[in-house]
Amino acid sequence: MSGHGTPIPMTSRPCCPLMGEANVPGDKSISHRSLILGALSVGETRVTGLLEGEDVLDTAKAMRAFGATVTDHGGGEWSVQGVGVGGFAEPENVIDCGNSGTGVRLIMGAMATSPITATFTGDASLNSRPMGRVTDPLALFGTQAVGRQGGRLPMTLVGAADPVPVRYVVPVPSAQVKSAVLLAGLNAPGQTVVIEKEATRDHTERMLQGFGATLTVEETDEGRVITLDGQPELKAQTIVVPRDPSSAAFPVCAAIITPGSDVLVPNIGLNPTRAGLFTTLKEMGADLTYENMREEGGEPVADLRAKFSPNLKGIAVPPARAASMIDEYPVLSVVAAFAEGVTDMQGVKELRVKESDRIDAMAKGLRAAGVQVDEGDDWWKVTGLGHGNVPGGVTVASVLDHRIAMSFMVMGMATQKPMTVDDGSPIATSFPIFETLMGNLGAQLVRDNA
Ligand code: S3P
Repeated sequence: MSGHGTPIPMTSRPCCPLMGEANVPGDKSISHRSLILGALSVGETRVTGLLEGEDVLDTAKAMRAFGATVTDHGGGEWSVQGVGVGGFAEPENVIDCGNSGTGVRLIMGAMATSPITATFTGDASLNSRPMGRVTDPLALFGTQAVGRQGGRLPMTLVGAADPVPVRYVVPVPSAQVKSAVLLAGLNAPGQTVVIEKEATRDHTERMLQGFGATLTVEETDEGRVITLDGQPELKAQTIVVPRDPSSAAFPVCAAIITPGSDVLVPNIGLNPTRAGLFTTLKEMGADLTYENMREEGGEPVADLRAKFSPNLKGIAVPPARAASMIDEYPVLSVVAAFAEGVTDMQGVKELRVKESDRIDAMAKGLRAAGVQVDEGDDWWKVTGLGHGNVPGGVTVASVLDHRIAMSFMVMGMATQKPMTVDDGSPIATSFPIFETLMGNLGAQLVRDNA
């Protein structure tokens, strides 16, 4: 695969200990939503702590193309002058969402019930991912979509001029699909109802309420029933973006597997729909503590302290927890390699349609590094070798996937021999300061062509 310019091979050498404070960037999910909801509001939304990774910057560009005024004030401070619900203008050009499934799927939802046409594209990874999961429910509003075979980008959406409200049971556990339907429901008359059988990250629901929409959530036998009143006037907000638990996962897991480490990761968003990894790590015997638990901007937040954990045990990760840690399985599989026994991850089919097929990408790299991995369509098992026993010493493919690249860089901090990824450039999509931050803790990461 290609798509991010010149590949940047990157090597991580056994090192350390890792010590100090890791100030990870803002939450990616909340950053995308801040820009999109700001663009759909009346007035000026102010955002601090925005993640300035490529994915979110592509969403900022897209919001400008739909008519919002998005301004970077420096230092993570942004403002969005919105056009209001139903106020999107037709973009003059193709919308390029880069590597971001969240960006493209949420934006498709946000424009789907306006009488405008937009064409979307992305990099080689995004253009291979399924969009039918979003365009199927959007068709119920009256939106038309024409894309490549298998519902792939590039794809043109013709927004519904006279949208009807929708009742939709989401067939896969996906916050992106749920959010696309809710964002489309904003400009439909009446009530749009979305039902999810398994709870997925609920930032869209929380933020829509924060922006003044009437939205209720009910737990029923059918699942989580979300009801949104259409055509609200969303009011501009001031948003402080919490730091991303999915980014925190990398320094946390690195500290847990690297002898002697003690790392503090402050201000991490611990929304229960996102915190499954930390519960799992504790069950494996990780020395991980939450300090200074508090609430900020409607989200639970804490400082995480992670220390080297000499007695990690493999566990069965409950499938019901999958949605709350779906982006963290790659780095969990690295921790599992350093545990004693088998870590069994079931009910994780969604991993096969992320920025890459993450089970395949991790299984290939882990096996090359000397770790046994067994896999099926929706499960995989890693047989841990215990601390000090993981060989490493190989170059593995990051397949245009930031989380695969970062997971193998974390692994190389504790393997017997260094780990190399063929291309670390995708890291910039979600964690542009990864190398500096890990380097400051004591990691030895080098760009091989530097
Ligand atoms: C996201 C939802 C998840 C996750 C992605 C971000 C979001 O995808 O993998 O990184 O912000 O809504 P799915 O909703 O497709 O599971």
